[in-house]
Amino acid sequence: MDEPTIPGLTVKTPRTPQQMSADIPAMPVVAMRVMRELADPRTTAKKISDIISVDQAMTSRVLRIANSPVFGVRRKITTVADALVLMGFSAMKGLVITVSTRGIYRHAGMLEQLLWEHSVGSAVASATIARVAGGWPPDEAFVAGLLHDIGRAVFANLYRKDYEVLFQYLYNHNLPRSALVALEERYFGMSHMDVGKMVVAKWNLPEDILAVVSHHHIKSLEDLKALPKPWPVAVVGLADSACRHLGVGMREPDTSGPLYNSPFAEFLKLSAEQVAGILEQTLELFESEKATFEM
Ligand SMILES: [Fe+2]
Ligand SMILES: [Fe+2]
Repeated sequence: MDEPTIPGLTVKTPRTPQQMSADIPAMPVVAMRVMRELADPRTTAKKISDIISVDQAMTSRVLRIANSPVFGVRRKITTVADALVLMGFSAMKGLVITVSTRGIYRHAGMLEQLLWEHSVGSAVASATIARVAGGWPPDEAFVAGLLHDIGRAVFANLYRKDYEVLFQYLYNHNLPRSALVALEERYFGMSHMDVGKMVVAKWNLPEDILAVVSHHHIKSLEDLKALPKPWPVAVVGLADSACRHLGVGMREPDTSGPLYNSPFAEFLKLSAEQVAGILEQTLELFESEKATFEM
């Protein structure tokens, strides 16, 4: 670590993987119970709704998001039981994960707010892309989009000032985002993808999310095609690029990376018009719905 030091950076000994994994916040208890119950093939809507209803705050947040046009349910959902019937168990799992994730971004720093907006924007874009490209339920795409950069939120939480210093450095020097990954590895001993994988393991999240968290920075079509789960990675990778181009969750739009001719768009076989339509819908939905996800 004798590279030119970044002024203001204080981290000396980064956490080991074991320490990092121990410091990642646990999933809230109610959410954990719901996830366990949802994994049980004999579960019932009544059992799940009983568990969630114990937690007032979670109940109201789940209902608020369930009614967002992002999820496409047209009837008004007023109870958790309704949500289970109208949206299904898998969508409920997504809602519970979404609500639980918000807590990691809640430390109110400027960076966490931007990261949260980037996550919600990527979630909305992922659901929109899944609707256009098919091949993946939009509610699952939403959650994967929301979580793709969860490792960055954990860094912002645990290294606080230092992660902001890194960010400021990138911004001031106009560096590409690949530089962020290199800086994370150099100063924190691991990338936000590595940390994301630890969150997936600790929270026991599905494999699609693991694929997305691990590979959303992939750069070539060949590498993408070689993955065991290329489709979710392409959907969220495109969503991430779309948000950068739109400037969603960023101080200003960044159009330096590929979008229309990205490996993601190519893999999903989306035309330039389709991608343009996705950008438009994403921006519209994000603007109208971002307050819903402030929770
Ligand atoms: Fe990332
Ligand atoms: Fe991202």
